[in-house]
Amino acid sequence: MKTKVLLGIASFSFTVVGAFAYGAWTFRALEDRMVAVNNLYVPAMKALNQMESSFFLLESDLDKSLDEGILRPRDSLESVLNSRLEYLSNLAKEQRARDPLVGQSVQELEDSYRACAELLLRVYQDWRGRQTYEADLSAKRSDFRVKLKSLIRSIDHETRQVTSRVQDGLSRLRFMLTAVLAFCCLMTVVLSYWLAASVRPLEVLAELMRNISQKGLDETIVRKLIELPGGSDEVGSLSRESQKMAASLLDKSKALTEQKLNLERAHQELARQNEELKSTQAKLLHSEKLGLVGRMAAQMAHEIRNPLNALNLHTELLEDQLRSDPELRAGVEPLRKEINRLIDVTESYLDLSRGPRLKKAPVQLNEVAEEIHDLYEPLLKEKGIFFTCDLGDLPPLTVDRAQFSQLLGNLVKNASEAFEGSARSAKYVRLITHFQPEKNLVSVSVMDNGEGIPIDQQKNVFTPFFTSKAQGTGLGLTFSRQVVEAHGGEMIFDSAPKQGTKFTLKLPHGVEDLQKESEWKAAEQRS
Ligand SMILES: Nc1ncnc2c1ncn2[C@@H]1O[C@H](COP(=O)(O)OP(=O)(O)OP(=O)(O)O)[C@@H](O)[C@H]1O
Ligand SMILES: [Mg+2]
Repeated sequence: MKTKVLLGIASFSFTVVGAFAYGAWTFRALEDRMVAVNNLYVPAMKALNQMESSFFLLESDLDKSLDEGILRPRDSLESVLNSRLEYLSNLAKEQRARDPLVGQSVQELEDSYRACAELLLRVYQDWRGRQTYEADLSAKRSDFRVKLKSLIRSIDHETRQVTSRVQDGLSRLRFMLTAVLAFCCLMTVVLSYWLAASVRPLEVLAELMRNISQKGLDETIVRKLIELPGGSDEVGSLSRESQKMAASLLDKSKALTEQKLNLERAHQELARQNEELKSTQAKLLHSEKLGLVGRMAAQMAHEIRNPLNALNLHTELLEDQLRSDPELRAGVEPLRKEINRLIDVTESYLDLSRGPRLKKAPVQLNEVAEEIHDLYEPLLKEKGIFFTCDLGDLPPLTVDRAQFSQLLGNLVKNASEAFEGSARSAKYVRLITHFQPEKNLVSVSVMDNGEGIPIDQQKNVFTPFFTSKAQGTGLGLTFSRQVVEAHGGEMIFDSAPKQGTKFTLKLPHGVEDLQKESEWKAAEQRS
């Protein structure tokens, strides 16, 4: 492009300088011609015209003298002739210096005039014999006249020719200047258009660079860069370099995006593994705590189980002895049942460490629920809590009855303790059972309208030893969930502070239950 611009400027300057040189040369030539006309032809013409008029006067004077035969005074004639001759001689000298040809003609004219003048003076000197000179004088006079006229004509012709050449030169110069001006205008337009066309890719390039800095590099911009014209000039090489740069940047950007994706994937994987680690840690902690519980339970079992067994034995003996008094015997029966339950509870604490040892049998959970209701109802009534059962139609479930009984007892006890510090007038606890045949799911819920569990404590309620109560162990819910999960079910809760809590256990009614159910029904029919 630089070469093209330099070439353009050079040709432009060459044209303008050429035009100026030609114009100056033409003006110079025209000036010379005008000077020649002014200094040579105009004064010569003026002098010759005067010479012609004075010669005409002289001739008419002479003719008059010859006609009248009167001799005019000779002195004045001689001085007139001499002054004319001197004038002609000066003119010849002057013209010779400027134009030898014209000078030569004037010289010839001077000679002719001199011959004429000499003859004329001789006529005056020899007035009587003038007849002899008359013919010669007439010939010389006409020769002078002819020469004079011819010189006047040639100078006039020359003047006209020079004037016409000057006019031609002027019109040529005008034409040439107009042509140069038109050429310059055309060159300016062409150069402007060409420069604009050459610079256009630069504008597009600048726009694309602006887009890259604002929005980043993408394939559309690279495509536009590739579409830029790739000439052999500087703009073309800039376009090509930009294309290479954009392509390499795009490659790097793609590689970076790929690396970013990989990093994101790695980060997600790390987060997932971290979550797993946390959950494993929580399980480990849980297991540790359960281990501690197990050890405690084992100690308790040693301390409590044997005296309880002894108590149980004594109660059975007492029952036997009171066989004759059914009223007293009926009073001892609940005592024995509670002692048995305590034995079972002790066993279940042992189960926390070694996992519950399930003694599964087909159980009607509604019966267990009713027993719990009967057991706790008087207690809750004393506290002003209205305890009701809402029992749905349940299929028998193959579960450990004692553990479920203890589990429901825990939930009802918790519910009854949820009213501590409550100013509520209508307090209630509800035990609800429900069967969803389409999901083969049995759910048992214990619901209260007590104080609810504070939001920040809700995540801890299943943690072993977590308790908000002065006398609590914090093991009730831990044990309950363990039992439910050992039966393949799950335990959830929903609680709103100051409104109440609902614990629900969901138990699957599986193939085992169906088998046991049919066996059970068959046994019932047999009996
Ligand atoms: N129905 C409920 N309403 C309000 N809070 C409850 C309810 N059930 C459980 N909680 C909260 O969960 C905690 C843990 O209960 P969990 O039964 O495991 O132990 P505990 O009742 O404190 O002790 P323990 O069962 O030995 O008497 C309770 O201390 C209590 O804060
Ligand atoms: Mg409890």
